Amino acid sequence: GHQLSEQAGIPWHAVIAHRGDSYDAPESTRPAYLLARALGADYLELDLQRTRDGHLIAFHDDTLERTTNVAEVFPERADAPVSSFTLAELKRLDAGSWFNERYPERARPSYRGLKILTLDEVRRIAEGGDNHPGLYIETKVPGQFPGIEADLKAYLEAHHWIGDQVRQPPEGFDRNRHIGVAFTPGRVVLQTFEKSSLINLQQQMPGVPKILLLWLGEGSIPADESIRQREGESLADFRARQRVASRQAYADWLDFASAHGAVGVGPSAVQSAHDDAFSSRFSYMDLARRWMVGMSHDKGLLVHLYTVDQAQDFRTYSDRGVDGFFTNHAPALLTFYGRA
Ligand code: G3P
Ligand code: CA
Repeated sequence: GHQLSEQAGIPWHAVIAHRGDSYDAPESTRPAYLLARALGADYLELDLQRTRDGHLIAFHDDTLERTTNVAEVFPERADAPVSSFTLAELKRLDAGSWFNERYPERARPSYRGLKILTLDEVRRIAEGGDNHPGLYIETKVPGQFPGIEADLKAYLEAHHWIGDQVRQPPEGFDRNRHIGVAFTPGRVVLQTFEKSSLINLQQQMPGVPKILLLWLGEGSIPADESIRQREGESLADFRARQRVASRQAYADWLDFASAHGAVGVGPSAVQSAHDDAFSSRFSYMDLARRWMVGMSHDKGLLVHLYTVDQAQDFRTYSDRGVDGFFTNHAPALLTFYGRA
């Protein structure tokens, strides 16, 4: 894993701040990304979507209800897709207060009224300050956004994150004192769950490292019936997961990733404890068993695991050879890696 990471220009034991330091501040908002940068996370992670008027933004869900006050501001459109709003409309929303209500122990008055961010705003955060984190960008629900991979390429090129005129270290930058993924070939990592988007990303940006995310639908392990019932999963989905639970299915996934230019895979983890605000209902799915990590490395693919916040889980999965983690809680991972 170490060598594979180095080849891709990605730090080994990568600290990927999932939606920023989203444990301590509302996900994908300015304070979450500022905290992640200040702490020394290697990457700011974001989910890329596009507004109706063509702006690229950082937002996870495909609707606005969970993390904004859309129901107050646009009551008739509360469950409408993010893609149906203009940037000006999105900027009217409060994307911070939900966090204060949900996590009173971590609430801050300053989180009230926080805005949804554009990619441009996240990029500026990455470029400010003494640390220089990279950007780890997921094409989210790419089926809703035809051509978003080309838009992203144009944007990153225009701002010198990729292409012939990539960012250079600022005056006085010292690799031994500063954290500077932004000046390595892995300054941008592209990630997606969608095979079609991986193909598009590879076509648009062949030289940029890519990660194919794995989830239960296709690369999976057998689940037991009681969990199926508890989670309300359909029998059809359950059976589909059982069918693909074999080594062969996992190998096929990896081969697809390699064949389409990925440098690694991003499987889901099982967390020993999790907060359901951050974990999907399938977070018990372990797609990074020891043999899975070994097989990935044997096939030349590095492994970045999502989404892990607890020290005991960092330990378990590091022992299996995982090369880095998506984490909501960057301070905990930095401590685990001895970098805090
Ligand atoms: O991008 C890795 C991880 O973030 C995938 O899950 O749903 O949090 O984007 P999600
Ligand atoms: Ca993501």
